[in-house]
Amino acid sequence: MTSDGHVFNPIGTIHTDFTEKAGTPIQGRFAPKARGEVHLLPEFANGLDDLDGFSHVYLIYVFDRAPGFTLKCMPFRDDVERGVFATRAPRRPNPIGITVVTLTARRGNVLAVSGVDMLNGTPLLDIKPYVPMFDEREDVRIGWLADSVDRRTADERFEE
Ligand SMILES: C[S@@+](CC[C@H](N)C(=O)[O-])C[C@H]1O[C@@H](n2cnc3c(N)ncnc32)[C@H](O)[C@@H]1O
Repeated sequence: MTSDGHVFNPIGTIHTDFTEKAGTPIQGRFAPKARGEVHLLPEFANGLDDLDGFSHVYLIYVFDRAPGFTLKCMPFRDDVERGVFATRAPRRPNPIGITVVTLTARRGNVLAVSGVDMLNGTPLLDIKPYVPMFDEREDVRIGWLADSVDRRTADERFEE
């Protein structure tokens, strides 16, 4: 991935039980029991020091199996097309995903996590601690999602 001379190389790999898009959680928030492991390349392991004090971390990764991008897409939670940047769809110009997962353990260069929604083998770009005092907002509006279909319907559509 390049941008004005910036090159992003994976710092590791996310391992999960999901090998097919169908059956992979739409959002890890709704699959708290879905466990995974983050394997950092050994040269970055020291960067995990002090992370085990955090209960949740952001995983930032590449949707490496997204087939190109589309500027309009039909979210599972809606019946009309939306601009891709108003969605979490994988098919985006820069196919970057972000998931807040629960951090359960660190062993060397491996993190045990839960609440995953990535395919097995997803390339990892970055890890950041989830910090409510930085990340929480008040008076939040959620756009089209306020009137979207319920989660069960979205999940059923996803399985079809
Ligand atoms: C709707 S996205 C949400 C991901 C993330 N929580 C976000 O908001 O950016 C989750 C879906 O992306 C798809 N997906 C997961 N890992 C992928 C990968 N490595 N390449 C392509 N698609 C992937 C799966 O179908 C999964 O159900």
